Amino acid sequence: TVQHAFYGEAEQAGIRTPPQRYSVYMTFTMSSPLARDLQVLLARWSGAIAQLMKGKTIGQVEPNRVDGIGVDTGEALDLAPAGLTVTVGLGPGLFTDAYGLADKKPTLMRELKALPSDAFQPGLTGGDLSLQACADDPQVAYHAIRDLARMAKGTAATNWTVMGFGRASAGKGQSTPRNLMGYKDGTRNITEDADFEKFVFVKDSGPAWTQGGSYQVVRKIQMHIENWDADRVSDQNTVFGRDKRAGAPLSGGTEFTTPDFHAKGAGGAEKISPTSHIALAAHENNGGVKILRRGYNYTDGLNQYGLLDAGLLFISYQNDPAHFETLQAKLGSSDRLNEYISHIGSGIFFVPPAAKQGHYLAEGLFA
Ligand code: HEM
Repeated sequence: TVQHAFYGEAEQAGIRTPPQRYSVYMTFTMSSPLARDLQVLLARWSGAIAQLMKGKTIGQVEPNRVDGIGVDTGEALDLAPAGLTVTVGLGPGLFTDAYGLADKKPTLMRELKALPSDAFQPGLTGGDLSLQACADDPQVAYHAIRDLARMAKGTAATNWTVMGFGRASAGKGQSTPRNLMGYKDGTRNITEDADFEKFVFVKDSGPAWTQGGSYQVVRKIQMHIENWDADRVSDQNTVFGRDKRAGAPLSGGTEFTTPDFHAKGAGGAEKISPTSHIALAAHENNGGVKILRRGYNYTDGLNQYGLLDAGLLFISYQNDPAHFETLQAKLGSSDRLNEYISHIGSGIFFVPPAAKQGHYLAEGLFA
């Protein structure tokens, strides 16, 4: 079974890490007004996550006293590390005068702009802290979040959460999985180290503690599944600009052939519609901008009308939140996909770099 390191000299695990099969994502709101409580929580979370990623408990399951309460809740006891990573993010509300941390703000940290696709539901936005747990065993990911949420009590309260049951993006060397619309997702994603340095990780003149971090944007995107399933496959292909089974761009070739957005068909129309998802999102049509997508399929079962309630937990990493906004401003107004999706949840978090051995996450924030 795979095991990832928590401590390191560069970024936190769970960004460049090839996506594991399952995820549990949770956000928290500070209930304490004290920066000191935040600091203690980040130190305790760091120690706990380091243990969890090794497949260990975070304390006793059965204390010696019969009437004692366990520190670790125990449901991952006999499970291997399962490639667990827990990635911690810090929300914009922390870098304010209220916590005395305004001058430590990551250079580009702010709330996301309002975007044309926003259809947020109450209780699915924002947060002061985020935890992204990913593992090849869903119970290992859930256990991590559960025990870390428990540890946060008194300092931060649970806000909103999404459980991802299947990866919907690909990392280096991985085959491309499919999202719930049946299409390969992650074909053209960031995989090369040079692109990670250029587009994902922060390297600027801002606070030293932020260097090597990344901005995490999360969107809970509901799919109107029944409508999608009633659409002809030829139209579905037009929506994405790709072929359903092979994943090849409609300009021709195989899955990894570079799309030709200028290629024209017999009638003179572009083979890849200019309002298809890939034409609008491709770096060739966005001044070269790329983002790392690391999303998961999710389901909340059925809605009140008996319709399938499911979609994509979209998570992207970039060294400038404006990169996401540029893409989503275009997608939100023109994407053919919009007929079949709603952005119902949203958040932005700064993911600090990894903790060095013997230290804890975002330690420099409190220096
Ligand atoms: C590409 C699905 C939302 C950005 C793709 C592809 C699919 C897909 C099937 C083609 C395969 C690939 O290259 O990975 C979806 C679905 C979404 C969604 C089902 C919502 C439910 C978003 C959002 C963004 C985004 C919100 C960013 C704001 C991109 C980018 C590409 C892409 C940058 C690569 C385009 C290229 O370079 O060819 N998406 N996507 N997607 N998507 Fe999405």
